[in-house]
Amino acid sequence: MSDFIRIDWLQLQDWCEQILRLIKVPQDRASLIAESLVQANLRGVDSHGVVRVPIYVKRIQKGMVDPRAEIAIESIAPAAARVDGNNTVGVVAGSAALDEVLRLAKSCGTAVVGVKHSNHFGTGAYYALKAIQRDVILIVMSNASQTMPPTGGIRPFIGTNPLTVAIPAGDQHPFILDMATSVVARGKIIVAAEKGEPIPEGWALDKFGRPTTDAAAALEGSVLPFGGYKGYAISLLIDMLAGVLTGAGFGRYVRNMYEDWLHPQNVGHLFLAIDINRFMPAEEFKSRMDQYIRELKAEPKAPGVDEIFIPGEIESRIEEINKKNGIQLPERVLEELNKLSRELGAPSVLTRISGKEMV
Ligand SMILES: NC(=O)c1ccc[n+]([C@@H]2O[C@H](COP(=O)([O-])OP(=O)(O)OC[C@H]3O[C@@H](n4cnc5c(N)ncnc54)[C@H](O)[C@@H]3O)[C@@H](O)[C@H]2O)c1
Repeated sequence: MSDFIRIDWLQLQDWCEQILRLIKVPQDRASLIAESLVQANLRGVDSHGVVRVPIYVKRIQKGMVDPRAEIAIESIAPAAARVDGNNTVGVVAGSAALDEVLRLAKSCGTAVVGVKHSNHFGTGAYYALKAIQRDVILIVMSNASQTMPPTGGIRPFIGTNPLTVAIPAGDQHPFILDMATSVVARGKIIVAAEKGEPIPEGWALDKFGRPTTDAAAALEGSVLPFGGYKGYAISLLIDMLAGVLTGAGFGRYVRNMYEDWLHPQNVGHLFLAIDINRFMPAEEFKSRMDQYIRELKAEPKAPGVDEIFIPGEIESRIEEINKKNGIQLPERVLEELNKLSRELGAPSVLTRISGKEMV
């Protein structure tokens, strides 16, 4: 048997939804969570896809996340609002914040919405792709639990705090920057450790703060920020805006969703939006973007390079392939999902290999 199995994305989304319904997540929220997780897999961001279902379920079952909590939205200025997620699922709180920031940006031109008492909100691209359909430029940031040291430090203090910026275009691919502030996703170090392979220099420190290429030692230590002190500074500013400013946790007060079973995570997010039409007609803006991207893509290429990509473009290409051929999941992930199905008395995730279905 191969190490990877392909699964039809709609089938996977149904399965996710079913699992969430079984633990009493309301239907509309179950659909939203399932959609966001499967979208990550579709776009090749597997670290934020259905692999997270078991931990989401466990935190809900243990009362660490309340999927039914009511979200409170408080207006603090004509173009600003504060959202209290009341410890509901991160993408549910994040989606409420997105709706609010889009509404405010449409009425005021620009808007800012801060979120506290939230949880892991998935990928920033999930929100970005919705915003650009409304001709809005969106900036999203979230803090995360401690995995990276400050420059000069030896142990984790900040999270891999993601930054997302979405700018619409016309017939060209939109700019969808969606990145962790670590040099690499921690998931890649986990995979290397499982295979017993070394990791490249510059990815991580061991628990004593020494640079390491030993993946297992790196997992006991910390992941490094991208771009040295510059990535550290950007990660820090995200924690200050998404955490300190919003009233959410920051630094050590953003709890680890895999390790802390006593406290809610108290993740914070910040959403900023600009309504393009206030600057110029959206069509004119998009045609200027198209010209920019066309000129960028026509630049001379380095040896061995066929194409220059705009951020987000590679993920869109992967999405097209995955929609057609199915999402590729490692066998060990599928086993984990089917174990969860058995525990909850749900049907197993069906797999499809070369057109054949197997349970
Ligand atoms: N919720 C959380 O706590 C949390 C924390 C960290 C990361 N994340 C998510 O993890 C995901 C993965 O982050 P990552 O940093 O590993 O992503 P990545 O390094 O794969 O990509 C980062 C960005 O670079 C762009 N890119 C990659 N190759 C490119 C190229 N050749 N040309 C142009 N652009 C290119 C991508 O389109 C993307 O926008 C993101 O969706 C992020 O939101 C979430």
